[in-house]
Amino acid sequence: MLRKIGVLTSGGDSPGMNAAIRAVTRTAISNGIEVVGIRDGYKGLIEGSFIPFEKRSVSEIMSRGGTILGSARLPEFKEEAVVNKAVDKLKENGIDALVVIGGDGTYRGADSLTKHGVNCIALPGTIDNDIQGTDYTIGFDTALNTIVDCVDKLKDTSSSHHRCSVVEVMGNRCGDLAIYSGISCGAEILITPETGYDEEAVLEKLKYLENQGKNHAIVIVSEKVCDVNDLASKVSKVTGFAGRATILGHIQRGGSPTPNDRVLASRMGCKAVDLLIQGIGGQCVAIRNNEIISMSIEECVNMSRKSKKEFYRLFDKLV
Ligand code: F6P
Repeated sequence: MLRKIGVLTSGGDSPGMNAAIRAVTRTAISNGIEVVGIRDGYKGLIEGSFIPFEKRSVSEIMSRGGTILGSARLPEFKEEAVVNKAVDKLKENGIDALVVIGGDGTYRGADSLTKHGVNCIALPGTIDNDIQGTDYTIGFDTALNTIVDCVDKLKDTSSSHHRCSVVEVMGNRCGDLAIYSGISCGAEILITPETGYDEEAVLEKLKYLENQGKNHAIVIVSEKVCDVNDLASKVSKVTGFAGRATILGHIQRGGSPTPNDRVLASRMGCKAVDLLIQGIGGQCVAIRNNEIISMSIEECVNMSRKSKKEFYRLFDKLV
């Protein structure tokens, strides 16, 4: 019998997490299930930092970025003793099931809780779009919009000044934010984990583009692949462009979620509770071909990343 569920957000926050919390809360309460919000992810869970939620507790949060529950990373959640502590806290507080919203680390935590007998559903909340088995994660669309807005602005000024903007975007070793923004902004060069980094080839391409009459260039770089400041100064030295580096940083994680993220989060939050009502746990919710589905969390965390070859081919065709 499902009487009470907990909901938490964990890892790096993402726009749309609040819409997911709202959907979980309202769907559960409409079905006569109590809801507690858990502060600061798995950290709040082991500390017993619980807030009883009513329908009104989640009013007016849909348009807000970040997460009203707070978030944290807890690397110790891999340890058996820490997971056991979480299981005990859930039992002590009569919480029968859990909905966790976050990225890869959050999914691993949910997998571990599932293996310790907790009915757990995971929702993909991360700007990185690096959760396998789902076409999109909650927050990706908003972050992409933020990046596109920033790069469009950089493009205006770089074309006035015959410059090359080298822009670092987030992604945590997943190139999706880079490839989607690269296509959207008509960037000249992309550097991602999938393309790899060949400094000489990048500089040669910039020289070639300049010879072709380009008066500015945009290079989009996925974080953790190369040093954008270093690349920008090399661009100034060896090409006719003046290089300027911009690291977009955490600005990509903030802001009001786009309608797409709000709808995605609402659909996923509702599905999570539907699964728990059916007595199903150990699943993560995903969107595939615009259909909300679920799959095993264990399977998801062990899946390897699908290549975005078609997107890279498209990018190359359009430069
Ligand atoms: O996973 C989301 C993300 O924003 C990544 O893109 C980035 O690598 C990381 O989190 C940054 O983490 P932090 O906010 O802890 O610096």
